[in-house]
Amino acid sequence: MIKKCLFPVAGYGTRFLPATKSMPKEMLPVVNKPLVQYGVEEAIEAGLDEVGFVTGRGKRAIADHFDVSYELEHQIAGTSKEQYLESIREVMSKGSFSFTRQTEMAGLGDAILNGRRLIENQAFGVVLSDDLCVAEEGVLSQMVKLYKQFRCSIVAVQEVPEEDIHKFGVIGGEQIKEGIYQVNQMVEKPDPKDAPSNLAIIGRYILTPDIFEILENTPPGKNNEVQLTDALMTQATDGCVLAYKFKGKRFDCGSVAGFVNATNYVYENIYGAK
Ligand code: UTP
Repeated sequence: MIKKCLFPVAGYGTRFLPATKSMPKEMLPVVNKPLVQYGVEEAIEAGLDEVGFVTGRGKRAIADHFDVSYELEHQIAGTSKEQYLESIREVMSKGSFSFTRQTEMAGLGDAILNGRRLIENQAFGVVLSDDLCVAEEGVLSQMVKLYKQFRCSIVAVQEVPEEDIHKFGVIGGEQIKEGIYQVNQMVEKPDPKDAPSNLAIIGRYILTPDIFEILENTPPGKNNEVQLTDALMTQATDGCVLAYKFKGKRFDCGSVAGFVNATNYVYENIYGAK
């Protein structure tokens, strides 16, 4: 059983400055809910209710969001406004929340290595909450099902147009079932001409715990950061990593355009539908 999910949230969110100067990017609201809450709800839906955040300086608002605000609760208790707290109360009642810090912005791989103590020796999920996923069955739930079948690390992928390939980690592999690939190549942010496919890794992973030891021995790669992609490539060479073309939509909310698209989509299809 997978119970734990790691949220690396230490990044600076520079693409959203000045909004992110003193506020975590993960707290930007898509309509009326912070990005990170969408991710946590997806994890809890998948049964991953032990949530661990790898935070950094200036991210205290995330911890406060998943804690009780006594003043606020007292102020609106018994009024019609209580309904606005329903979703976060539900998340808090179902999940547990732990925090650790990444002291240096040394890359996603390093952030995950920092989360090791929150995970221990078991498979776990990873959510990059700036990727907002909307799907009938949550993307992590889809991946947990696959993990139960294959018992190896899984990365979620989607097809991207050639002009966007340089923004992603890209996989190459052999299709073993409709939409499932055994990975044999992984390149971080390649030139389109060097990309092994148009299948880009998005911010949802299931990782087996041997990834920690691999990360410890992974030297800094592209941009002098410890790249999770490099560690996953080692795992794929020595064992098995699957890429899964998930069902659903993904919005890159780390970019302004993706964030605006997500906001419009959620407002028209999810928020209004309630
Ligand atoms: P990004 O590079 O997209 O996020 O990292 P960023 O650095 O916050 O954003 P920009 O590029 O400056 O606008 C992907 C994810 O990995 C986390 C980030 O928080 C984000 O969720 N991350 C990245 C860390 O936690 N630590 C790192 O050292 C790097």
